[in-house]
Order: sequence, then structure tokens, then C-alpha cells
Amino acid sequence: MSQHAVPATGEREIRFNHASVEGAELDYIRASLEDGHTSSSGAFASRAGAILQEETGAEEVLLTTSCTAALELSAMLLDLEPGDTVVVPSFAFTSTALAFARQGARLLFCDIEPRTLGLDPRHLEELLDDSVRAVVPVHYAGVACDVEGIRRALAARPDVALVEDNAHGLFGRWRGRPLGSLGRFATQSFHETKNIVCGEGGALLLNEARDVDRARVLYDKGTNRRAFFLGQVDKYSWKDTGSSFGLADTLAAYLTAQLEQRRTIQAKRRTVYEDYLRLLTPYAARHGLELPQVPEDCEPAYHLFHLLLPDRATRDAVLERMRAAGVHAVFHYVPLHDSDAGRRFAARTTECPVSTDVSGRLLRLPFHNNLTAEDRERVVRTLLDALREVS
Ligand SMILES: Cc1ncc(COP(=O)(O)O)c(C=O)c1O
Repeated sequence: MSQHAVPATGEREIRFNHASVEGAELDYIRASLEDGHTSSSGAFASRAGAILQEETGAEEVLLTTSCTAALELSAMLLDLEPGDTVVVPSFAFTSTALAFARQGARLLFCDIEPRTLGLDPRHLEELLDDSVRAVVPVHYAGVACDVEGIRRALAARPDVALVEDNAHGLFGRWRGRPLGSLGRFATQSFHETKNIVCGEGGALLLNEARDVDRARVLYDKGTNRRAFFLGQVDKYSWKDTGSSFGLADTLAAYLTAQLEQRRTIQAKRRTVYEDYLRLLTPYAARHGLELPQVPEDCEPAYHLFHLLLPDRATRDAVLERMRAAGVHAVFHYVPLHDSDAGRRFAARTTECPVSTDVSGRLLRLPFHNNLTAEDRERVVRTLLDALREVS
């Protein structure tokens, strides 16, 4: 249904997501087309990369066609071999796992902890064995996972790479440090559902200087093209494995305009988040709702607003009623350990009861930059009406 479609109640539909134009997007896209450099590594890619580097402190930023592609590039850089395993949360997007399975690793699905819905360090400790080459935490909703616990679990394993899947976390912080700066690699998403968008896009943040040269080669279809353009070699040729990871400069133009508006966008999203919290808090205990928790040492990225309902049956019935009333709420993440491909690529069966429980009870409310106060009130009213009807 389009944004203006009329559901059964006669009211306008409130979409779950609506990517919006926030600044100079149309001018920059036009400029990119008129300039004629529309493929990767152009002037807009440099501008967008510089903003991301300034915000995260990364050694190098490679703009990619998606976060999935950035995860795949990180997996290639790990040089995974048969028998190697990678620990991923079961409560995550498929790409968090498949990028590593695709490079030949077997997966160890780790449970999440109920406070941040991020990787559970105690389960991680149980899973760590000599086969583990990397751990890939997700900062769910843009709230840092238990970074300290994960670091403690990995303290005796400097050989294990930390790859932050930071698809939700751009501009969030943990103890004052930017999310995306805490691992050897971090990956970003600029898919239309994210805070900063360009249709489809992503980035790989390289936080260690030793990875930069090789990453540039893998990024550029296995060639040293970048070194050639920097004047470091007099011709370029095939050097290594790789793929075509680069984001077209026309999309980098869109991304640059969005990144320039990052403070406005983050402030708008913070308002939506805080308003939902304010409106729902008085009803939480009565309806058995668990609202998002933000540990004291975390500054959220305000990527999404989720809540947990008492049980799966209530969640499903509420979702259906909200949609019938024109409010597009959604669920999130079917646990990967329990999926067909998850079973196929797992190194061994692991138990992830919190992931299964959360997946069955979680509901995400419509969330986008320009969701009005009136819409937010209607979303909450519709949710509460649905809860009263089903209980
Ligand atoms: C945690 C996480 N990682 C990765 C992705 C994949 O992002 P993209 O669509 O940019 O490939 C998503 C998508 O929503 C995600 O939620």
C-alpha cells in the first residue's frame, strides 16, 4: 500500500519506513551526472568517505554497494580456511552470517543477552575454541552490545578478529567512542531503511593500517588500480582475489548530501524515539511491555524503536490489528540458528533460547525522520487499542 492508501479504518496508512530527501541530494546527483564520472571512487565518494572517517576515526573507508558487500570484503580479508569458524549472533540479519559462510567458514551461532539484544559474552566464552577466527557482533537498534564483556572473552585470543556489523549503529557511541571504531573492521549500511541512505549502499571501515593496502586491491577487482591512480606504480594489473565492491559516484552523491545533514537527521530520529518512549512508558507495566533499554555507557544511534510483547501470540495478533488499522509495524529477525541455511552452515548445533524468545515477541514501530507528532500518537494509540482487544 502506498503512503496515502486508505486502510479499512478510513485513515491514511502510516508507512513503516520512508526514505526522505534532507538536503542537497538532487543537486549533487545532477552534478555527478553532469560531471560524467558516475562509477566508483569519484569526487563524491571522497567527500562521503572523508565525513565517515572524521566521524569514526577509521584508517580508511571503502564505500561499497551494500553492508552485505562490506561484510563479504571483510570475510575475504580474513583469508578463512577450511575448518575455520566465525561466531555470529543468531538474532541478526542473514548477511551477518552468509558473508562468512560464503568464504568457506562454518558458523557458530551465539545467543544474545536480553538487555541490549547484542551478543552474549558468556555464551561467546563457551563457544570459543581453536577454530574461531572472527566474532561479528551487531549493535542492535544502534545501542552498543556488551563490548566490555566481549573484549574480556577475547582477551586471551588476539588472533580472533572483531568485525562490528554496525549496520544500525552509525553515530552511536560506547563510553564516548564511536560505534564502528571498536573492531578491526566495521561495516555500515546505507540501505533505504537506515538513518543515512542512498538507496542501496554500504561501507567497510578499516581500523588497522595493516589492512589498508590489501583491502584496496580486493575492493578494486583484485587490481592495484588505486596505487596506479595515486602515482605509486606506473601500470596496474591483477594482483589478488577480489570483486567489484565500489559504490557508483551517483549514489555517493546522494550519500554525501545525507551525511552533510547527519546532525539534523539524528536529532529528528532522537525526537521520534524519545516521544515513543514517553508515550508508552505509562502503559508498559499494565500491558507487560518491555521497552528498549539503553545502558548508561551507551549513546544510541536512534536507528529503530522496538518493544517486546508478553508472548508470540499477542505479538502476532497485535501486528495484524495494527496493519488492519493502517499502521505498518513489523517483526524483526527470524533466528538464524534455526533457519535452513543456518543449520547447513553451522559448525555444530548451538542453543540460542534468548534469540528465539526475543524473535517471537519483538515488534518494531514505524520509524523515519519525518514521522510527525500526530502520526506517533496514532501509532501508540493503535498499539494500545490492539493490546486491549487481544488481552
Ligand atoms: C545487522 C544488519 N547487517 C547487515 C544488513 C545488510 O545491509 P545491506 O542491506 O546494506 O546489505 C542489515 C540489513 O538491514 C542488518 O540489519
